[in-house]
Amino acid sequence: MIVSNWKMNGSKLSVEKWIKEVSKSILPKENVPCVFCPPVCYLDLSRKIIDENSSPISLGSQIIESSTQTALTGGINSQMLQDYSTDYVLIGHSEQREHYKEDNASLRLKLNSAIDSQISVIFCLGESEEIKNNNKTKEFLADQLEPLLEQDFGLLTLAYEPVWAIGTGLNATSKYIDEIHGFLKDYCQTRFALKQNVSVVYGGSVKLENCEEILSSNNVDGLLIGGASLDPETFSKIYNFS
Ligand code: 13P
Repeated sequence: MIVSNWKMNGSKLSVEKWIKEVSKSILPKENVPCVFCPPVCYLDLSRKIIDENSSPISLGSQIIESSTQTALTGGINSQMLQDYSTDYVLIGHSEQREHYKEDNASLRLKLNSAIDSQISVIFCLGESEEIKNNNKTKEFLADQLEPLLEQDFGLLTLAYEPVWAIGTGLNATSKYIDEIHGFLKDYCQTRFALKQNVSVVYGGSVKLENCEEILSSNNVDGLLIGGASLDPETFSKIYNFS
């Protein structure tokens, strides 16, 4: 899976241009979904352009609320996402963990909501530089995985995004990524007895120049790309490497 996370970027014009260009440039592979996560205000437009162009791109949301009922100004719930046939949702991104003070309890509710609505989850996790330097990464990630306990996933993708690598230009080395992804897969199998295989994608300063090396590990099942995915040509090239 190769995922473009636009974060808080874009315009109607750039969304339309991106979808049209990427749809033409990628060589779609059945086992490698191409997922576009625009700002939520562009989901409607994106769905329309994807459908009109018979595009192979799948649509992902950057947000989901845990409840469909609560009075919540600014909230976007799973039913709204279903209205746009949203295929995927990012949950637990480090930027949202920080800004919205998300914790394991609130993330568990968001997971429930996505699972109940059959929206495939891309569950993000990753350690800070301080945790890495204190050799506490695996313990920390194990704790971040706790909301997955006793959840019934049809399909689960983890996105390992070390906080120190996001938007810094400093990607983790492929050896480090391989080790952490291996740990996450083993941990999910033993702790959660997840029936299906868990896919783990990497995010954090992925660029055209480093994507091939990162993807060379058997433990890397794809990429979650921020900044470098804004340019349709760069993103398409990265997809075609996968
Ligand atoms: P960058 O690729 O810009 O480092 O962002 C990574 C990310 O946070 C994707 O979710």
